[in-house]
Amino acid sequence: MRKLVNYGYLLLAVVMIISCNRKKSEVQIIPEPAFTSISGGEYRISSVAPIYLGSDDVDLNMAALYLQERLSIAAGLKLDTKVNNAKGKGIHLSIDQLTFSENPDAYELIVTGNSARITGNSARATFYGVQTLLQLLPPEIFGPKESLEARQLVLPCVVIRDEPRYSWRGMHLDVGRHIYPVEFVKKYIDLIAMHKMNVFHWHLTEDQGWRIEIKKYPLLTEIGSIRKTAEGGTYGGFYTQEEIKEVVEYARTRFVDVMPEIELPGHSVAALAGYPDISCTGGPFEVRTAWGVAADVYCAGKEETFDFLENVLAEVVELFPFKYFHIGGDECPKTRWEECPDCQKRIADEGLADEHELQSWFIQRIEKFLQSKNRRLVGWDEILEGGLAPEATVMSWRGVAGGIQAARELHDVIMSPTSHCYFDFYQGEPMYEPKAIGGFLPMEKVYSFEPTPEGLSPEEAKHILGAQGNLWTEYIPTTDQAEYMALPRMSALAEVVWTPVELRDYELFLYRMKAHYHRLDEMDVNYRIPVPISSGNSFVFLREFTLELHKAVDGAKILFSTDGTDPSETGQEYVEPLIITEDTRVKAVIRMPSGHTSSTIDIKLDQQEIVAGLELERQAGVSYSYYPGSFKSVYDFKDLKPESYGTIAVPGIPEDLPKGTYGLVERAYIQIERAGIYRFFTLSDDGSVLIVRGQEVVNNDGMHGGKEISGEIALGQGWHPIELRYFQAGGGSLLELEYSGPNLEKQNIDEENLASFTSAMKMMKLN
Ligand code: ACM
Ligand code: ZN
Repeated sequence: MRKLVNYGYLLLAVVMIISCNRKKSEVQIIPEPAFTSISGGEYRISSVAPIYLGSDDVDLNMAALYLQERLSIAAGLKLDTKVNNAKGKGIHLSIDQLTFSENPDAYELIVTGNSARITGNSARATFYGVQTLLQLLPPEIFGPKESLEARQLVLPCVVIRDEPRYSWRGMHLDVGRHIYPVEFVKKYIDLIAMHKMNVFHWHLTEDQGWRIEIKKYPLLTEIGSIRKTAEGGTYGGFYTQEEIKEVVEYARTRFVDVMPEIELPGHSVAALAGYPDISCTGGPFEVRTAWGVAADVYCAGKEETFDFLENVLAEVVELFPFKYFHIGGDECPKTRWEECPDCQKRIADEGLADEHELQSWFIQRIEKFLQSKNRRLVGWDEILEGGLAPEATVMSWRGVAGGIQAARELHDVIMSPTSHCYFDFYQGEPMYEPKAIGGFLPMEKVYSFEPTPEGLSPEEAKHILGAQGNLWTEYIPTTDQAEYMALPRMSALAEVVWTPVELRDYELFLYRMKAHYHRLDEMDVNYRIPVPISSGNSFVFLREFTLELHKAVDGAKILFSTDGTDPSETGQEYVEPLIITEDTRVKAVIRMPSGHTSSTIDIKLDQQEIVAGLELERQAGVSYSYYPGSFKSVYDFKDLKPESYGTIAVPGIPEDLPKGTYGLVERAYIQIERAGIYRFFTLSDDGSVLIVRGQEVVNNDGMHGGKEISGEIALGQGWHPIELRYFQAGGGSLLELEYSGPNLEKQNIDEENLASFTSAMKMMKLN
């Protein structure tokens, strides 16, 4: 259905020309429409000119209702609706086959001095026309209270012919790891609808919580929705069936389809906590408190498992009319199945080759059941293993390879690779971001996503239905943070899935976002604003330092302070680079006109003198001391006696060190050939600290996974003592030291530039 009729291709050519002309126009719509032409003049919305509906179609009426509601709430304007095809002054909404596109979501919006006319190929398309119309009005139209006056309800005269590039434009929300109130879920749906996205993927069950009431199995929520917390309390909650219906109905009024996800066979410990008999071992189980992947999964051998799942799915299907149904299928370890006599009997009885085929058999059995309920199965790309279920749609998350394979097998695919679609990843320098699961996915990278991989035939490419942003919530405990992680990356993804690829332009997108941020402000969305510095929070200088701050958001201000106070309220406005000539602490934020701010950066600027190094009779090697024990900081073993000593060539973890937990101190001299400011980097798992000339230069201390931190020091020519402290507290193990300096790219320290701590000091030259 994405095919344009021939006339449409002509239009696309025009679109490309227009778009060049309409850089930075006053029409700032997200996602950018396929074709926009602005002429002079305007149409003023007024209470005397009603909303005309082309028919009494209930869904069309729903689109009108949404428009009425916005005008009423934000501007106090009550517009009547009339069903007739009059040509009169007013807003006209109708469903009619458009000539330029057969896409069911295609619409046309024509504003003249006399009317605003929206025609859609469907009611949903007409609703998208309404969304575009609203974006032509001041941002307050999206607000919660009456703040617009009638005279401000002015639409510029435009012709917009628009259609989405993809039919699947999804956003996912994991409510298993953290649960959010119904009101928030509705707000999330409002955001989806405003971006002309159409699927809300509701991830309802997890190892850490079962979040949907199932009448036949009350223990799923009585036991499965509550987990213990590290603090000795409990965390939990679930949605009743009434609440689920309320959300699905709300989504219907926004033309958003809601796809439930009931995870199987893995990620099901919360269910097993209530119903241990359908596991392989029989339990007992507790709702999982740690993130990650659990070994215990549904037993594939026992018939009771399928009775249970079919009963659960039957209830869930009743609540969700959408034809797609997600069954998870990801991250299902096979360890229990390998040991379980029931599972092994199943493998033998069904003539399966192994546990992967058993998983495939499991999914196919569930697919048959869902088909009997008139539903289409969607699963994560692991459902490819052991063979795809006949009609399955694959959600490709471990990169796009699974999606490519599925498309080659002519299965439908939704692209949602971690590389471009995982909105739980960091979106900026981690030191300025709330703790996230890891990764790095800035908005620009989302914007660059191409859902249809190269190399697919046109026939295969048709199976790429679209793309979806995923919000996994292990590290997202609050609704504020969920909004922070989702926006504005959702806005970027909206253009990926909607806008013709020829019109995608990141600079223009950022320009349009300026208006869009105001709309998000009106909706009270805690979207992320980038901080005013791209990296680093401490710098060393000799005489003078020029601190340049920048704002990625047009229309915002940079506010700063140098006296330690919070700059967001009382800071000075930044107008030009700051010239720093003494030790200074600069705090800075970006502040939107609405008052919404970025996080505060806190930059330490340290004036230092160059201190010459020593002259040495070099002996090779780095000396280390080893402290077995369990530590949480590199200073925990400061006063202990080491158990052993050794020498290595360069800093790092000595190869022959015993496994387990320990502390390590490495000492050496480093040779500096050219005086200047040097930056040192430690990358470690767990903590590390680098001390140079007795001064702590890098503090990468504390228990953490692989993480790099850097810091600077002024060093003169000669040899300087360094001490690298490290501890290993279990899990991954990593220690690397690098440096950069005047004319020196970031690199490891050469063996020749290191001398052992026992090297003899030469006589100082006295001159
Ligand atoms: C997934 O992220 N485990 C689908
Ligand atoms: Zn089993």
